[in-house]
Parts: sequence; structure tokens; C-alpha cells
Amino acid sequence: MTVQLLHLSDLHFGGLADLDQIESLEQMLPDLRPDAVVVTGDLSQRARHGEFQRARALVQTAARTAPVLVIPGNHDVAWWLRPLIPFAKEPLYAKYARYFGADLTPTLALPGAILASALTSHGVAWGSLTPQVRDLAVKGHLPKREFARVRGLFEAAPREQARVLVLHHNVLRGDISKRMGLARWRQAQRRIVASGAEVVLCGHDHQEGAELLGGRVVVSTAGTLCKRTRGGRPSTFNFVTIEPTAVHITYFRWDAESRRFRASDTYAFARAGKGASSGPAPAPPPAQPVPADTTSHS
Ligand SMILES: [Fe+2]
Repeated sequence: MTVQLLHLSDLHFGGLADLDQIESLEQMLPDLRPDAVVVTGDLSQRARHGEFQRARALVQTAARTAPVLVIPGNHDVAWWLRPLIPFAKEPLYAKYARYFGADLTPTLALPGAILASALTSHGVAWGSLTPQVRDLAVKGHLPKREFARVRGLFEAAPREQARVLVLHHNVLRGDISKRMGLARWRQAQRRIVASGAEVVLCGHDHQEGAELLGGRVVVSTAGTLCKRTRGGRPSTFNFVTIEPTAVHITYFRWDAESRRFRASDTYAFARAGKGASSGPAPAPPPAQPVPADTTSHS
């Protein structure tokens, strides 16, 4: 069974959102015929009501075509409330929850896949701290309890369902940013591989990616639809097709001239243990040289 996932991230409604792109996406969405739409966080810029309200309108539009799974990103968390207090974190997510529901780690079961999400956006939390001041409330972390919960969901799922892990922060280093989204990233990567995930959907870095983690987990990193792209590159979203023996990730890139998204590069990966070979096939084209971007906030 083939499963098709439309993977969006980092919409950043507010001053940075590109409404031409959002409206174009809303228009073309039914023609893409996704089985589910996944938004991997940062729907807002500053966790404001108006930003969440426009994001909710997009989610409602998408929901007319397919079920939608939404998770919060670091920008959707009122991180300035209760910094470093480990308990009673509800106020941090109250505004987000008002528009997208109290479940911060929703699960979606499709006939061919189970999508389980993990919360990595914890505001100013001990687990997300690094020695860098600029990382404050930007980096995320994958707590042990989140890993254990997701692993339990994957273990209990029927064999024929592909295991898809949804989280906000990029789990691989950004090409341009050179940054990991998660603090204690080696531990997080080990946990992701050990969870049984076959595909990871993440964002946060504002640069698209299609790579393998640990030689077996296919990672789709969606770019942003806002004006703050890495290196001034065109905005993108990803379309992920999970087939019985392979996973394909296609970037849809914004074409400013025609004012629409167009399918561009596709990357293909054999599913670990499901085909004769593993690893990406064919090899991705070499990265284009791009200007460096020193922006630290994703
Ligand atoms: Fe983010």
C-alpha cells in the first residue's frame, strides 16, 4: 500500500508569512491528493492569537482534502512563561492548544502508516539548554519519556503500517546553518533509530532536506513557507511517498515567476529490510553553492 504525505513546516504566520505562497498551496492542495497533511510546527512567529487563527484557517482548508496532523514548534510556545520550571507547563501551550487542541503529541493511523509525534519544543527547559545564549528557547530536546512513548506506539502498530515519527526540530545538521535542531543530538539520534521509526518528518532549519539517519531512517526536513529562508533560497514544502519497498521525497519549490509551487528534485530511498538494497538511490545531486546565512533563529 502506498501512503502519500504532504509535509509542511515553519509557516510563521505574522509578518514573515508569504501569503502568495500560502494561498497558492491552499489552491493546489486537493490536486496533490495526499493521504494526510503534516505540519511540523512553527505555525506562528510569536505565539499570537492572530497568527494561530490564520494558521488554523490553513489547517481547516487542508482538512477538507485529508486528515491533518499538527504539532507545536519552538515559536508556538510561550517560552517566557515559567522558564526552567519543570512542572505545570500547560500555560506555555495554552494559546496553541486553544486553536489546535490540547493534544501536543497527536497520533494518526492511516491504513498504510502510523504517524506518531514527539514533543521537542519545551520552551526554556533544562534539557534544551546549551552553552550558547542564542540557543535559548530555540533548541529542542527529545526526552526519554517521549522516546519511550513513541517506541511503544510503533511496537503496538500492525506490521503493515510504516512507522513515521513527526517532530519539529531538525534531527540532522543543516547544510547551510551547520546547526542541529536538538540539544544532545547524538542521544536523540540514537533514540530515534531505536524507536523503530522508518521515516522522520521534521522542520525548524528553514532548509529542505532528504537524507538518511543511521543508514536506515529516512528523514524529510521541510523548508519554510515564510520569507526567512536559508540563504535566500526559494521556499519549499515536501511530498513524501511511502511505497512497500521505497520512500520518495519530492521538493515542491516556489517559482516566483509563475507564482506557484513546482515539483523539483526527488530523492529515493530503499526501505530498510523491505528491498534488496538499502541507502539512497540514486545518489542526490551535489548541493548548489549558496551564500552563507548567519541567522540563528529558526
Ligand atoms: Fe523552529
